[in-house]
Amino acid sequence: MEQNTRSSFSSRIGFVLAAAGSAVGLGNLWRFPYLAAQYGGGIFLLVYLVLVVTFGFTLMVTEIAIGRKTRLSCIGAYKALDRRFGFLGWIAAFVPVIITPYYCVIGGWVTKYLFTFVTGGGQAAADNGGFFDRFTQFDAGSTLATLFNFNAPGPWFLLYTLLTAAVVIFGVEKGIEKASSFMMPVLAVLAILIAGYSLTIDGAMEGLKYYLLPDFSKFSASTVLGAIGQMFYSMSLAMGIMITYGSYMQRENIMEHSVTQIEVFDTLFAFVAGLMIIPPVVAFNGGDPTKINNGPGLMFSTLPMVFESMAFGEIIGAVFFLLVLFAALTSSISLMETIVSVLMDKTPLGRKSSTLIVTGATLLIGIPSCLGYGPWAGIKILGMQFLDFFDFISNSVLMPIVAVLTCILIGHVVGTKVIADEVKQNGAAFHREGLHRVMIRWIAPVLLVAILVSELATKVFGLFTI
Ligand code: PHE
Repeated sequence: MEQNTRSSFSSRIGFVLAAAGSAVGLGNLWRFPYLAAQYGGGIFLLVYLVLVVTFGFTLMVTEIAIGRKTRLSCIGAYKALDRRFGFLGWIAAFVPVIITPYYCVIGGWVTKYLFTFVTGGGQAAADNGGFFDRFTQFDAGSTLATLFNFNAPGPWFLLYTLLTAAVVIFGVEKGIEKASSFMMPVLAVLAILIAGYSLTIDGAMEGLKYYLLPDFSKFSASTVLGAIGQMFYSMSLAMGIMITYGSYMQRENIMEHSVTQIEVFDTLFAFVAGLMIIPPVVAFNGGDPTKINNGPGLMFSTLPMVFESMAFGEIIGAVFFLLVLFAALTSSISLMETIVSVLMDKTPLGRKSSTLIVTGATLLIGIPSCLGYGPWAGIKILGMQFLDFFDFISNSVLMPIVAVLTCILIGHVVGTKVIADEVKQNGAAFHREGLHRVMIRWIAPVLLVAILVSELATKVFGLFTI
């Protein structure tokens, strides 16, 4: 049976680094800063932090425990806990199918920036978003011509997806562990240095205040909503990923400890990314935080300007984008790995053919996100570009659904004891057991349902805006 062949991480730190590698990625470096900028700065940060240590912790423990207990990827795992919840595994497995393609599109943007900096074009990229717009909006006349034009995102998306696939093909230990254990610490150090520098830019203090000091008048349901979606995304929750990783985790690992470490890693990266990006963008835009609102392009517009104002900025920029590329890769590897492991569990296909199929599908599904700001900019779904739409459907719809149903399954059907027992294997402690229990049974599901209803009402039915 598949149980016997499932490979496992060779060490505890291997697990933590790989799971942190999955968690730390574009979500922290690209998505967190622009959401924080968009949803009121300090208040978003505060809400996010509270959510991570309560809700995020609860879900992550739950998922890793489910994986380690059942030794199955999410489809088999939910079914093994309760047959009626088998469908939940399928929904969870479907989330990465949506995220992987657009994640690879953004990974492609990073690859383009790396190339630009390495070939000495860093200065040209420092024009407050102009370079980014020209790149993402590039239109070579026809869809096909645009898709294969190096001035547009297409070829970079292809390249990035193939890089991801290459690691997945070599399997868990060799690929994932090696890449993540080497690159993560370097990225952390560089990010801290850049953040330190960012704060010295003239006018950065206004931005720092905006980022750190919560303004409670900016609090709204959408702040919570944005923060919850970001938490799922950033911690790689509610999509079967932590279940898959848990299934590779050895029983000797002290789970609560590992989860706390992953949480801290992930949140620190997001926090530092915010420091790196928000104060300078406020400075560059004349000190008024309410004026920054360029969404998904924020990191790509701001950082080149930071680098340009630094000594050796071109080199620092090149190294930085190389490391971002690795952080992104460890995440997209985990996304793709989840889909591949489902295919391998459910079909007679081996790793190679599963990976090839998933790669092909990723490329196809990614095309709309790739062209969505360019030649296909006229097409909108629910008022959103393709990329934003895929982001919305996964983070604000499917992931909350998976999370609610997981809470119900664990909190009210199989019982929280199942998880607690797994966490406490080998006499390990579970300090936040009480918190876990209350969160999963009551607070998380109620909050999630409220959020889900309001989100759907707002976006889909346009009933009211919050
Ligand atoms: N958590 C990753 C990040 O922050 C992204 C990701 C999302 C990875 C979903 C796996 C699954 O970038």
